[in-house]
Amino acid sequence: MRRFEDRVAVVTGGASGIGAAAVREFLREGAGVVVIDLEPVDRESLTGAAGCSPGALRSVRGSVAEPADCRKAVDEALNAFGRVDCLVNNAASFVIASLDGAKEDWEASWSTNVMGAVNMVKAALDPLAEAGSGAIVNVASVVAVVAKPGAWTYHSTKGALLSVTMCMALDLGVHGIRVNTVSPGWTWTEATAEVMDRRTYEDYLIPRMMLPRVGETIDVARAVLFLCSDDASFITGTDLKVDGGYSAMGPEGKSNPF
Ligand SMILES: NC(=O)c1ccc[n+]([C@@H]2O[C@H](COP(=O)([O-])OP(=O)(O)OC[C@H]3O[C@@H](n4cnc5c(N)ncnc54)[C@H](O)[C@@H]3O)[C@@H](O)[C@H]2O)c1
Repeated sequence: MRRFEDRVAVVTGGASGIGAAAVREFLREGAGVVVIDLEPVDRESLTGAAGCSPGALRSVRGSVAEPADCRKAVDEALNAFGRVDCLVNNAASFVIASLDGAKEDWEASWSTNVMGAVNMVKAALDPLAEAGSGAIVNVASVVAVVAKPGAWTYHSTKGALLSVTMCMALDLGVHGIRVNTVSPGWTWTEATAEVMDRRTYEDYLIPRMMLPRVGETIDVARAVLFLCSDDASFITGTDLKVDGGYSAMGPEGKSNPF
């Protein structure tokens, strides 16, 4: 029996990167999936890669920053599959700004990364509660708890996502809904490939990882599915880092001067 047979997942930002990998894995494990994304979803390639029928994947073109679009995604899941068991808040705006940031930069960042997750939880709450073992995974980042130069907008949204996740877990536990974050470290995606070649990426990052390789989207997708599955039935309000040990290394890295 596949872990998500007869279950339904809604994945935000599932048209590319980590979201698309999670969609593919949910489909492979038997779920019906609805994606909400600003961009079109390549249904044929995702369902083909998962070896399932095209009808198992639906999509809504819209923004998680808009509550009405979030409701459309949940309605699509209810109309197509009749239920919602899992919600993955993965969509993100990557606007990076600090002192120079305009009001619009802050709004773009927070309306997608934080309010987008809240909007989706509001829209999906009733069906998640009805499902009996609803699970929400908010995709944060290891940068939520460290400083990087000039990155006030994006970093602060990820910090907020960690704390709002704990509050969600507390308030929604009564409905049997579990809420957790997955915090990816550096993860190679199509978007990364547009700005950097793989060799440069690996040369920079591998010395900063405990494991001698960089992260792939499938690594994060597997953690997302674990937290959505019954294997994680008593796990809520927690953060699972998927970073090859990046955040656990001290400033000395792999060297020992003594
Ligand atoms: N790739 C990494 O190294 C990395 C590291 C840490 C955390 N993350 C987090 O993982 C998640 C996925 O990142 P990714 O690297 O796969 O990015 P990506 O750009 O490949 O995918 C993000 C998707 O979200 C969609 N999106 C953006 N704004 C949206 C909105 N308002 N409404 C609906 N969809 C929207 C985009 O169209 C895109 O398809 C993000 O939350 C990101 O912060 C990524």
